[in-house]
Amino acid sequence: DSSLKEVATDRGFRIGATLNAQSLRNDPSYWKTVRNEFNAITPENALKMGPLRPARNTYDFTDADAIVDFGRANDMYVRGHTLVWHNQLPNWFQAWEYTDEQLETFLRDHIHTVAGRYRATVDAWDVVNEAVADDGTLRETVWADAMGEKYLDRAFRWASEVTDATLYYNDYGADAVNEKSDSIYTLLSNLLERDVPIDGIGLQCHFLGDRPAPESIAENIRRFQELGLDVQITEMDVAFTAGDAPDDRCQEQAAYYRAIAEACLETGCDTLVQWGVNDANSWLRQFKDFPERYTDDPLLFDDNCDPKPAYHALTDTL
Ligand code: XIL
Repeated sequence: DSSLKEVATDRGFRIGATLNAQSLRNDPSYWKTVRNEFNAITPENALKMGPLRPARNTYDFTDADAIVDFGRANDMYVRGHTLVWHNQLPNWFQAWEYTDEQLETFLRDHIHTVAGRYRATVDAWDVVNEAVADDGTLRETVWADAMGEKYLDRAFRWASEVTDATLYYNDYGADAVNEKSDSIYTLLSNLLERDVPIDGIGLQCHFLGDRPAPESIAENIRRFQELGLDVQITEMDVAFTAGDAPDDRCQEQAAYYRAIAEACLETGCDTLVQWGVNDANSWLRQFKDFPERYTDDPLLFDDNCDPKPAYHALTDTL
C-alpha cells in the first residue's frame, strides 16, 4: 500500500504535520511517521517569539533549526509559524516599558532576523497570526496598540524585504463563511488595495466541537482565491464531540477529514497541515478550555502512531 505522503505527492498535494523538537529528538516512531507519511511540516512552537527570544537582544534558534533542517533533509515543504502574534510572547516582554517607536523597531528587527535566517529554507510564513477578534474587530494586541491596523502592512513589507517565501495571514474560526471570515475578507481586501505583499490566507481548521458544512468551507476558500490569494489549511484537527456516538467516533472523524480533503481537491487548495503528528502529542491533551464540547484524539495517528480511519479516508481521497 502507498503511504499518505506518496499518494499526496503523486497528485501534487501537500500533506503536513506540526513538529516539536523534543519528540523529533527522542521518539523514533514519531520522526519515522513524519518522514514516511508527510511531505510538509510546520514547527509547532519553535518559531514563535517567546521560544526564540530568551532576552530582548538574544535569539535561541536551536529547536527551530533542528525542525527546519529535518524538513529540508527530507525534501519537505516548510511552513514558518509565526512572526507576529499576541500569544507566546517572551516572559521579559511584560516588564519592558517601551515606546511605540521602540516596539516598532523591535518587531522590524525580529522579522528581518528570523525570516532572513530562513530565507532559503522556509517556503511559506504565517506573517501575522490571529489579528482579528471573535467579534470581527481588530484584536487589541500590543502590536495594534502601538501601530494600529498598519502593523499588518508593515509586518508583511518587512518580511518581503528579506525572504521570497509566500506570505500568509493565518486565523481560526474563519474556516467557513461566517462573520469572522467576512471581517477577514474585508481586512485582506484592504491590504491588497494598499499593495501590501500578502500571498495567501491560512485557515487553521481547529474543529473542536463545531464542524461547519464542508460546502461552506469550500465557498470560503473560493472567495479568498478570487481575491488572488492562495488558501491553505494550516492547523487542522478534528476532536471527538459529545454528538459522536462512542462506538462510531473514529468513523465520524474520518468522514469529516474526508469531506475537508474533498473540499480542497474541489477548490484547488493544495496544502493541508494537521496540528501535531499523533494523538499523544496533540496540543488538545493540555488545552482544556471547552471540555464540555469535545474530547481529544483529533489526529490521523493514534497514541502509538498507528494510522486511524481518518488516515485511510485521506489516502482514499487523495
Ligand atoms: C499552540 C501549541 O500547539 C501549544 O503547544 C502551545 O502551548 C500553544 O499554542 N493556534 C495557533 C497555534 O496558531 O500556534 C497554537 O499552537 C494553537 C492555536
